[in-house]
Formats: sequence, structure tokens, C-alpha cells
Amino acid sequence: MAAIGKVLRDRLAAAFETVTGSTVDPVLRRSRHADFQADGALALPGDRREIAAAVARAARLDDLCAKVEVAGPGFVNLTLADAALDRMLAEAAADERLGVSTVDPETVVVDYSGPNAAKEMHVGHLRSTVIGDAAVRVLEYLGHRVIRQNHLGDWGTNFGMLVEHYVDGGVIDESDLSAFYAAARRRFEADEAFRERARRRVILLQGGDADTIALWRSLVGVSRRYLLGVYDRLGVRLREGDFAGESTYNAELDGIVAHLRERGLLRVSDGAECAFPAGFATRDGAPLPLIVRKADGGYGYAATDLAALRYRVEELKATRLLYVVGAPQRQHLAMVFAVAEAAGWLAPPVRAQHVAFGSMLGTDGKMLRSRTGGAIRLTELLDEAVTRAGAAEVGMGALKYADLSTDRIKDHVFDFDRMLALTGDTGPYLQYAHVRTRSIIRKGGAEAAGGAFAVADPAEHALAVELLGFPGVVEHVGETLEFHRLTGYLYGLATAFTAFFERCSVLRAPEPARGGRLALCHLTARTLRTGLDLLGIEAPERM
Ligand code: ARG
Repeated sequence: MAAIGKVLRDRLAAAFETVTGSTVDPVLRRSRHADFQADGALALPGDRREIAAAVARAARLDDLCAKVEVAGPGFVNLTLADAALDRMLAEAAADERLGVSTVDPETVVVDYSGPNAAKEMHVGHLRSTVIGDAAVRVLEYLGHRVIRQNHLGDWGTNFGMLVEHYVDGGVIDESDLSAFYAAARRRFEADEAFRERARRRVILLQGGDADTIALWRSLVGVSRRYLLGVYDRLGVRLREGDFAGESTYNAELDGIVAHLRERGLLRVSDGAECAFPAGFATRDGAPLPLIVRKADGGYGYAATDLAALRYRVEELKATRLLYVVGAPQRQHLAMVFAVAEAAGWLAPPVRAQHVAFGSMLGTDGKMLRSRTGGAIRLTELLDEAVTRAGAAEVGMGALKYADLSTDRIKDHVFDFDRMLALTGDTGPYLQYAHVRTRSIIRKGGAEAAGGAFAVADPAEHALAVELLGFPGVVEHVGETLEFHRLTGYLYGLATAFTAFFERCSVLRAPEPARGGRLALCHLTARTLRTGLDLLGIEAPERM
């Protein structure tokens, strides 16, 4: 079954073609005066009202619309027929996937979370984890093969200092990684002898010294356990097997550089081997380097990203690569993609997409800080969400919903009071709307799902139109990864349900209205639950 929007768009496009002799986008959207309106005539030359009227006459919409009218400067207003709504609702209800069609399956790699070992996750990683998990869920629902990759920062010169502090008996505690990191850092800054040992330790680590590797592995292991605990609390789909830390690519890095060198893509600058992808310049217009191999011979973040990209394309056979990474890394990723294209690793049909997001700010508009002014600890943030909400699924749901309902590219203001409100565009409001649908269904008894749709009242009509919008929204979000479109849709659905419920009695209505209304409640419940699940938010039965 095609989504309602697509059916209308196709029919209108055919009518525009008949009238104008060319291909015209009907520009279909929801309308305040009818169910939908098509604004395609507005962009055309000539008498636009006349064109709209001709399109309205030519369009074959008898089976779908009760009214097709021209309004204003040339809008075509469409009102769906109740009988058509009944038919389409029945189709959606009979479909396990609520009318969402399966796509041509692709292999999609979603790179998300990406915290750093031996450090605590920060709120940026939280955003990546929440947004990435929603991406995984939506793409899996659409039928894609999704491979999760947690690009854990588990390698680099920092580990010299960390391993050395560990050797000296530094205690690393899963519940407070930042204390360990800070202690190592303090010694590194204060103590020249320690610094020297740390430097030698890096060389041992890079050389694969067995004892050093064992120590490093144990440090990273503690971090992984901590992270798995956080993922579990958040209810995200990241598992142990999804860790693909930076160290995974160590053995590939020589080959990466050799390949780039052979292709003439590297130039030595200040002793470092750099790529200068076309189109990237410094402020003064000089070519901008992407450092692939540092002057000391070591490899950094960029080399690892190139190796990971090649692995995802060549070994994992992905055709779509998503990077759920903060907006400040836009240039880094754009340069990595450009170099990968030049190297021949990234070419159509494979596409790489930076799913960027803004910073998490406090209500004062500044970077989020704890009450004492220090960096905020993620576990405390989660604890507070749950305590304030009174239930884990409500607290986590509120937190995720607040994040996903802001246009992700914008900075996100973290505000417990707002996100936990029971009214307005919040997680708890949506969960509560679902609870209400479930409670009616429970009271409606066994026959609740069995009734035939019988849309008659304007509030039923409005709810029906909302319900039929679900497939179009999910398909759109699968492409754009604009999750606020899905939250906006669900909020609209919950609002339409509330209006329906205030106006139409369900359980006390005579048949067939009662059965039809229960069927509407049922489909609303399923749509809310499925939509929330796509966002990684639970839909409890009671609240
Ligand atoms: N560990 C990085 C950070 O904390 C994020 C990794 C993002 N993924 C990537 N492939 N670069 O900023």
C-alpha cells in the first residue's frame, strides 16, 4: 500500500501533466481549510486560478475525495471522503507494518556513540547515542541491513600516560572513570619523570609489547563495561559486538598511507604527510591539510577514519555510511570523505552522510554544567531524569524525546522541567496519550479490535487523516534522518486523538460507531507505540 500522500501526489501530477503538457510538482501539503492542498499551480506562468481549476477537473480523485475545490490564488483543496478513509484505515490496520512499504534494502553502517575509553561519556556522546539509535531503528524498520559501529576512541598517545598510571596502582573504577583520567593527567603535568615514562610507554604500546597491550586491554575493558552499562540503561541497541574501536584499524594504517602516496595524494608539510583535498582552504586561502601521518611517524584520527571508511565499504559492503557526530567535526568528516573519493574508496552508489548535531546547552544558554559548575556526569544526569520522572521508562523517554524533537543541527537546550511536562510536545505527553488509548481498549473488551472503521464525525475524520500519514513520515525520516519530523507527527497524532476523545464518546456510543471508534483507538495505540519505538522510547501500558 502506498502512503496517502504519494497516491494523491501521483494523481495530481498526472492531472498537471494533462493540463500543462509538462511535468509539474503538485506541491502537496496538509491544509488548514481542507485535508490537503496542492500549490503546484502557483509557480506556473499564466492564469494560475484557471490552471488550478483545470487540474481540479482533470484529476481522477473520485474514489478518494469528497471535495476538490480551487481557493485563493490557485490552491487545489482536497477533502478526503469518509468511505475512502475507512478503506485505507482498514488496509493500514491489517498490515503489520502499518502501511510502511519495504524499501530496496541497502547495507547501512551507522557510526554512533563513539565515546573515548578511560573517560566518561559526555553529553555530546549522549546525543550521538540517542540520535544514532533512532537512525538504526528507523532504517531497520524500513527493511535495510543495518550495521552498528561504535568507533570507540581506544588508541593514541594518551594511553601512554594512562597505562603508566595504571601500572603505578592507579585505581580505575567503572563508576567514576573521570577520576582515573584526571589523576593520570595531573601526574603527567606535574612530574617530568612520569612524562618520560609515559612517552616510553607509548612506544611500547605502538610496538605491540605484550605486557603493555595486556594492561591497555584491561583499561579499555573497564571502559567497555561502563559503556555497556550506560547503553543498557538507555535501552539502545548497541552491544559488545558493535564496538569497532580506533585500534581495530592499526594494522591497516600503513597500507592506507601507501595507497594514498602511490596515488600522489600526499605531500610532506612540516614533517607530516598530509592530503590537501580540493575545495578546502584555511582562512587566508591556503590549501588545508588533513594530516594522515604525523611528523613522529604516528597515525592520528584522520588515518583511522580513512581505514574505517574503506573497511565499511570493502569488507562490510555498505552502500550508505552514516556518521552521527557533532557539528564541530563537519570539516574533518568532509575532508575524510573528499580524500576517500580521491583514493577511490568512496564512489557512487556508495554515499557518506554526516548526521550532524548541535551542542547540548543548559537553560542559561551556556555549555551544560553540573550545579557545582564542573563537567556534568552522564550517570548523574540519567539518575536525575529517572528520579524526577518517577519511572525509568518515563525519564529516559523524556530525555530522548527532548533531544530528538529539536532540529538536530541546532543546539539543544537541556531543561528537565520542560522535557518532563505532561502537556505539550514532550515524551511523557506522548506516553500518556498511548496509556489513554490502551485504557479504553482494555475497557472495550475482547471485540475492541474487531470493529469496522466508520468515520463520520469531523474529529474522527481528522484523526483518520493523521493516522494515514504515518508511512510517509517514516519513509521521509529514513532518508533525511530528521527525527523531529517523526516527533512532530506523533505529537499531531496525539493531539488529534485528544480532540477526538473529548468530542466522541467511545464506549457508550451505539454500534456501529462504538466498534469504529474502538478501531480508531486501536490503530492510534499501535501507531503511537510503533512511532515511539522507532525513537527508542518505551510505551508503557500504564503510567
Ligand atoms: N571519539 C570521537 C569523539 O569523541 C567521536 C568518533 C566519531 N566517529 C568517527 N568515525 N570519527 O569526538
